[in-house]
Amino acid sequence: MSLMNRDAHGALPELPTESFDLVLTDPPYLFGNAPRVRKEHMPALDGSRIRWPLVFGELYRILKDDRAMLLFGHASTFMRLGPEISAAGFRYCTDIVWVKPGPVNFLQCRQKPLSRHELISVWSKGRLRYNPDEAKGPGGPYRKRIPTGCSFYDVERRSSAECLGGRYMTDVLFAPNKCHFRKGERTPHPTQKPLELVGRLVRAFSYPGDLCARPLRRLGDNDGRLPGAGEGVHGDRGQQGIRSND
Ligand SMILES: C[S@@+](CC[C@H](N)C(=O)[O-])C[C@H]1O[C@@H](n2cnc3c(N)ncnc32)[C@H](O)[C@@H]1O
Repeated sequence: MSLMNRDAHGALPELPTESFDLVLTDPPYLFGNAPRVRKEHMPALDGSRIRWPLVFGELYRILKDDRAMLLFGHASTFMRLGPEISAAGFRYCTDIVWVKPGPVNFLQCRQKPLSRHELISVWSKGRLRYNPDEAKGPGGPYRKRIPTGCSFYDVERRSSAECLGGRYMTDVLFAPNKCHFRKGERTPHPTQKPLELVGRLVRAFSYPGDLCARPLRRLGDNDGRLPGAGEGVHGDRGQQGIRSND
């Protein structure tokens, strides 16, 4: 894992063309005008200083063909950023819902429903590269008999399907959010992501030996516990993180 402690506007153009297999990022949520936000949390929310055409153009350039880009955010983020992402050349593929056990946004609990989800929007440069086997979640083996709907002389034919274990990933993932992390796992960063979720996403959209770009990170978020070699989350993938010095 290597980490560049630099502004993405300067760092991304220096990275080699078509050198990454996956981009996974959590851009500022564009909630710059959210009420009563602490000053130190503003960089996570206010994306007004980011030059999106440059950032997405560069992410497109550094990604190899037929590779994916995943972005955390909310529908409001993607309504704003979608046109910029498409203009850079990316193709929208799907989105994944992360269901959180603990609600957030109590400051607005009387203005709108508390939030218990976040989206991960999936884009590709060319065809989507998916790793269905490594994306699988837990589940025991089973055998299922399936009626074919075809009968002859009153004899119903059946075929069977066998699952050797594991369950194909769906577009709804359940993972703890910060208020459910153990004490030692929490960082001061307001939008810290659970390692198990990040690991699952990386495994689902890359293969062993791949290199993953993690731009728009922040000092203090996942410091020293970024999923990587040793943590077994996706230790067989390399990572390059870029974070600003805010
Ligand atoms: C929503 S937070 C993402 C934090 C995230 N959970 C992570 O994986 O690090 C967005 C982060 O983008 C970073 N950022 C904003 N502008 C940046 C820039 N020009 N260059 C690099 N990082 C930047 C901010 O520090 C902010 O914390």
